[in-house]
Amino acid sequence: MKHLLKLGDLTDKEILSVLNLADQLKYEQKHGIPHKRLEGKTLGMIFSKASTRTRVSFEVGMYQLGGQALFLSSNDLQIGRGEPIQDTARVLSRFLDGIMIRTFAQSDVEDLAKYGSVPVINGLTDYCHPCQVLADLMTIREYKGSFKGLKLCFVGDGNNMANSLIVGCVKLGMKISVACPDDFRPDAKLIEWGTKSGLLEVTNDIYKAAADADVIYTDVWASMGQEGEKAVREKAFASYKVDDKLLSYAKKDCMVLHCLPAHRGEEITEEVLEKHADEIFEEAENRLHAQKAVMVKLMDK
Ligand code: CP
Ligand code: NVA
Repeated sequence: MKHLLKLGDLTDKEILSVLNLADQLKYEQKHGIPHKRLEGKTLGMIFSKASTRTRVSFEVGMYQLGGQALFLSSNDLQIGRGEPIQDTARVLSRFLDGIMIRTFAQSDVEDLAKYGSVPVINGLTDYCHPCQVLADLMTIREYKGSFKGLKLCFVGDGNNMANSLIVGCVKLGMKISVACPDDFRPDAKLIEWGTKSGLLEVTNDIYKAAADADVIYTDVWASMGQEGEKAVREKAFASYKVDDKLLSYAKKDCMVLHCLPAHRGEEITEEVLEKHADEIFEEAENRLHAQKAVMVKLMDK
């Protein structure tokens, strides 16, 4: 593993190895066992979009690992004034031991890795959100014990979350059903790949998608950068909502996950979110442990 640009670059074994290390680091942190595996190392964190969980978990995670993290807003970097990614990559690689980037285009993340010489971690693009899905998978295994025979149902926009969930579930042998309107389907290549595996189903029937699900997952109707489409999306997704009725189609012990931030009353009801708050906030906490595992795998060389 040289970078984490998208989950599809990792083998199933590599994903499991990150999850196992994340469990171990969570245990060490909870039991006060020192794990300063990145002493003296510096991570640069480039943000072109807002963040609460990703920023704080990377920053705190790096501190707990004995290193330090630099918050680099793209508004304040020369990137914001047009300095090309290939130059930024070469300059930052001379100062830093790793770079995390949250931005719009997946190609910017790929270029950062191509032109730089340090590990690059994708902290969310319009295309995918691999760090989130590693934390999601970690949470599912914590609650369910294993991935064997499980079905995850994703309800809503076929966005970055849906794309990464398809990859994560299929790689680990979980079934995944995506319920979305026809105009908001996940990436076409991923649909083709997932469908071939026999594990992916894409439908606009939310009840069919939720049938016998072990995990129901949702995300906002309008992602960062799509604020101008709010009205169109509110209309398109009005019936793509995680509520008690939808949950009645799933297994009795079905978990509910949400990458957060959540819009109560839109993609998820207040009642469902609060009933499943333990799972959802454990999932948020697991961003810390999963990302520490990614950083150790990539930067502890
Ligand atoms: N889930 C997630 O990535 O949260 P932030 O946008 O707050 O980082
Ligand atoms: N799909 C959302 C995920 C936020 C973590 C977005 O891109 O804004």
